[in-house]
Amino acid sequence: MTKRPYVIDEMISAKAIAARIEELCHEIHAEFRGTDKLVVVGLLRGSFVFIADLVRELDLPVEVDFLEASSYGDAMESSREVRILKDLRGQIEGRDVLVVEDIVDTGHTLKHVVGLLKARKPGRLRTIALLDKPSRRETDVKADWIGFSIPDEFVVGYGIDYAQRNRNLPFIGKVRFEDES
Ligand code: PRP
Repeated sequence: MTKRPYVIDEMISAKAIAARIEELCHEIHAEFRGTDKLVVVGLLRGSFVFIADLVRELDLPVEVDFLEASSYGDAMESSREVRILKDLRGQIEGRDVLVVEDIVDTGHTLKHVVGLLKARKPGRLRTIALLDKPSRRETDVKADWIGFSIPDEFVVGYGIDYAQRNRNLPFIGKVRFEDES
């Protein structure tokens, strides 16, 4: 893929993300209080920063596991075919599970993963996404908790990449291509 020159404008600051995570964790506590050991499942790679901040804010016994699903590769458009590149290490039958996504765009990834995990007969299965782009949805999926609902902008940072770059930005930024007005 040819890289077009671009700049990144801050859209959601690190401080705003931290404040929102704190709010979300109050609701997650209310839902899962008393759970023996919650399995928090991060969808790689995009969720690695969000899940790290989220679990450190959760005052609950948690087990952390990861699943890698990919529908984009290095492309900007979803292939709509979700591939599981890495499965969970642990069993989830009868366990309460929280699936952590960085962004729900078309919704194909989250829908596929929820279907896959539900077939393993977990206890409660809930989902959380830091970002939601409802205008892009092609499926009937919606995360139980959403950090921020955003318009159809191309975003990077806080785990989210553009051609595998910019995941390490501490904020969510909007990509502006310099060859666009
Ligand atoms: C991105 C993102 C979400 C998914 C959302 O993952 O991290 O998991 O796409 O898109 P959707 O709602 O249209 O399915 P990607 O496949 O780019 O992999 P990555 O997390 O490794 O960057």
